[in-house]
Amino acid sequence: MKNLTLVTLLPLFILLLLPAYRASVSATSPFQTPKNIEYIKTSCNTTTYPRLCYRSLSIYASKINSSPRLLADTALNVTHKATASGSRLMKNISRIHGLTRKEAAAVADCMEVIGNSVDELQQSIGELGHINRTNFDITMSDIQTWVSAALTDDDTCIDGFEGRAMDGKVKNMVRRHVVRIAHLTSNALAIINKYASNPSNRP
Ligand SMILES: *[C@@H]1O[C@H](CO)[C@@H](O)[C@H](O)[C@H]1NC(C)=O
Ligand SMILES: *[C@@H]1O[C@H](CO)[C@@H](O)[C@H](O)[C@H]1NC(C)=O
Ligand SMILES: *[C@@H]1O[C@H](CO)[C@@H](O)[C@H](O)[C@H]1NC(C)=O
Ligand SMILES: *[C@@H]1O[C@H](CO)[C@@H](O)[C@H](O)[C@H]1NC(C)=O
Repeated sequence: MKNLTLVTLLPLFILLLLPAYRASVSATSPFQTPKNIEYIKTSCNTTTYPRLCYRSLSIYASKINSSPRLLADTALNVTHKATASGSRLMKNISRIHGLTRKEAAAVADCMEVIGNSVDELQQSIGELGHINRTNFDITMSDIQTWVSAALTDDDTCIDGFEGRAMDGKVKNMVRRHVVRIAHLTSNALAIINKYASNPSNRP
C-alpha cells in the first residue's frame, strides 16, 4: 500500500517539478528548448567550422525552431551582418595614417572585394525570400553561386596580405576579422547546399 502511494504520487511530483525545470532552461535564454537547440547542434555538425556555427546560430534557436528554411535564412543574415561590419572596418582601416604603400593597396583591394561579398550575400537573402515551387532549382543554384563568390572574395582579401612584406598590426587586424567572415560564409554555404539538396525543402 505504501509503495502504491509512492507510484501514484510520482507523476504528480514530476508535474510539480516541471515548471522549475522549464524556468531553469529559460534562465539561459528566453525561449530556447532542448529540441530547437539540438537542431542547431545537429545542423552545425556537418559544416566546416561547427563550433563557430553553433556559437553564431544558437542564440536564434527559438526563432529558427527546427525549420531548415529559417536556418538557411538566419545563416545568411548572420554572415551578411558580419561581412557588412567587416566592410566598414576596412573603410576605417583605409583611413589610418601611416599605412605603407603595400598595406594601403591591400586594404583598398579588400574594401572592393568585401564590398562585393556584401552585395552577393544581400542578393542571396533577397532571392531566398522569393523562392517558390517553380523557381526553386534556379534560385538555389544562383544562391550557391553567389555565396561561393562571397567566399572567394574573402579569400582574395586574405591572400592580398600574404607574400608582401607585411607582418604588422594592420595585417593581423584584417586577417582576424576576414578569416572569421570567411568561416561564417563557408558554414552558410554548407547549410545552403544541404537545404538545396533535400527534396522535402521544396515549397
Ligand atoms: C555529428 O553527427 C553524427 C551523426 O549524426 C554523430 O555521430 C556525431 O557524434 C556528431 N558529432 C558532433 C560533434 O555532434
Ligand atoms: C533576415 O534578414 C531580413 C532582412 O534584414 C529579415 O527581414 C528577416 O526576417 C531575417 N530572417 C531571419 C530568419 O532572421
Ligand atoms: C568605424 O569607425 C567608426 C567611426 O570612427 C566607428 O563608429 C565604427 O564602430 C567603426 N566600425 C568598425 C566596424 O570598425
Ligand atoms: C515564382 O516566382 C517567380 C518569380 O521569381 C514568378 O514569376 C512565378 O510566377 C512564381 N510562381 C509561382 C507558382 O508562384
